[in-house]
Amino acid sequence: PAPSSASSDDFLRCLSASIPSELVFTQTSHSFTSVLVSYIRNPRFSTPGTVRPLCIVTPTNASHAQAAVLCGRRHAVRVRVRSGGHDYEGLSYRSVLPDAFAVVDLANLRSVRVNRARATAWVDSGATVGELYHAVAKASGDRLAFPAGLCPTIGVGGHFSGGGFGLLQRKYGIAVDHVIDAVLVDAQGRLLDKEAMGREVFWAIRGGGGESFGIVLSWRVRLVPVPPKVTAFIVPVSIHDGAVDVLTRWQEVGPALPDDLFIRVIVMNGVATFQSLYLGTCDALLPVMRGGFPELGMNRSHCREMSWAESVLYVYVGSGHPIPVTDLLNRTFPMDSSNKATSDYVRQPIGKNVWAEIFGWLAKPDPGIMILDPYGGAISAVPEPATPFPHRGGVLYNIQYMNFWAAGKDGEPNVRWIRDLYAFMAPYVSKKPREAYFNYRDLDLGRNLVVGNVSSYEAGKIWGEKYFKGNYKRLALAKGKIDPDDYFRNEQSIPPLVPRS
Ligand code: FDA
Repeated sequence: PAPSSASSDDFLRCLSASIPSELVFTQTSHSFTSVLVSYIRNPRFSTPGTVRPLCIVTPTNASHAQAAVLCGRRHAVRVRVRSGGHDYEGLSYRSVLPDAFAVVDLANLRSVRVNRARATAWVDSGATVGELYHAVAKASGDRLAFPAGLCPTIGVGGHFSGGGFGLLQRKYGIAVDHVIDAVLVDAQGRLLDKEAMGREVFWAIRGGGGESFGIVLSWRVRLVPVPPKVTAFIVPVSIHDGAVDVLTRWQEVGPALPDDLFIRVIVMNGVATFQSLYLGTCDALLPVMRGGFPELGMNRSHCREMSWAESVLYVYVGSGHPIPVTDLLNRTFPMDSSNKATSDYVRQPIGKNVWAEIFGWLAKPDPGIMILDPYGGAISAVPEPATPFPHRGGVLYNIQYMNFWAAGKDGEPNVRWIRDLYAFMAPYVSKKPREAYFNYRDLDLGRNLVVGNVSSYEAGKIWGEKYFKGNYKRLALAKGKIDPDDYFRNEQSIPPLVPRS
């Protein structure tokens, strides 16, 4: 039940006993809105109708996060955790139902400590992946990297706990494949490392979504070697120049090329743009492309040699101009457009005639874009139960559908476009379950049903098995161990499953 205003006051009093007042922003504080909005990345969830938190706590050390949980438990106020604020449904800072909750915003906890000799790093959840990449590249003289997402502003906390894939996934797998320790505040306010949280919970936070299990404060990760110079290229192919044929072919070669080569595709406005990272020189890349994917017509003039850190920005911005690596540290994010996204996994190549139809969808009014990320290589070699992220062997590629509209405008036609295209795609993508990527969260896939003040395991299957396949049950058992009362919950958190003894 929602707490009464009496318990909200008690909650705030409890916080003030353990957390300096300048780190707590209540709805009446004059900086409340600016602190709330500072990490909202989708203006769709920054409207007068959005359910806002009672207060925002901005810890500067672990004890503040522990105090927020202890006070929340005592006074029946739930907390939601925000790291980078990129959640597609805004669940780190808003609630769908009018519940009273507090946000624990980790933006102040963002140090990165790289140990070059051991090729490891400790990174706090409030760091962005751009800050992590910058620190790793700098400390290693461009010899080490970390395999995670492309957008530099995404927060380590949400990104790692939901999987984390990017340009290095075919060579090295994804972020959670390289997490070797973590520090978690659980629902009892305890501070737990890998040993203390236990095998099942440590497994669960590596892909099962952190918000179900507690507040992950930091992560220890294994870094991976990269050559000091890599090669990036961007090749657009329009529908008039054979985009349908090249894309149809890409589905087979993209996931089968050598693991050093990653070629993703952005499809929009009648153009398929092939964006690539190769872990080697242009001289070495050219014969690989000629032998493996001549249909693309890639040649030396497309090659851009640069450091791995530079390649992240080059491919992310997609502009063709080199960008200084210090831009990886930029935390600002344009707030001019709202968006809606969802995802699919493809296990059988889609026919050429269907691709021609898909280009028709992309030419309708208010169209969005599709981003295709090839699997195969290391990401697909990990067994499904090894981490909660189950989209491994047999996946050819991931599709992300995204539609944008000007902030403040009615996005109904854009949202409808996504839903209609998603329905159209059903015969061509994975089935039983129709798989989806947890970090591309979509509440259309289903929401929790709370029964007797606990999220229902059975009802959660509808979305849980799409994101986690057979790992959903094991996640629910891990949740049952660490948070049987379901204190940490949101619209798509893992429900607790407690075996009857
Ligand atoms: P946010 O802070 O909103 O958190 C997301 C979820 O995790 C929330 O439920 C939150 O409560 C929970 N959470 C956050 N921090 C936590 C913590 N410390 N402990 C426990 N729970 C925590 N993905 C990808 O794999 N590859 C990519 O290249 C991209 N690119 C990309 C670009 C852009 C522009 C966006 C908006 C998103 C992506 N993503 C992505 C998706 C991204 O991985 C996903 O949105 C992450 O959850 C974002 O993490 P944040 O910490 O930024 O989000």
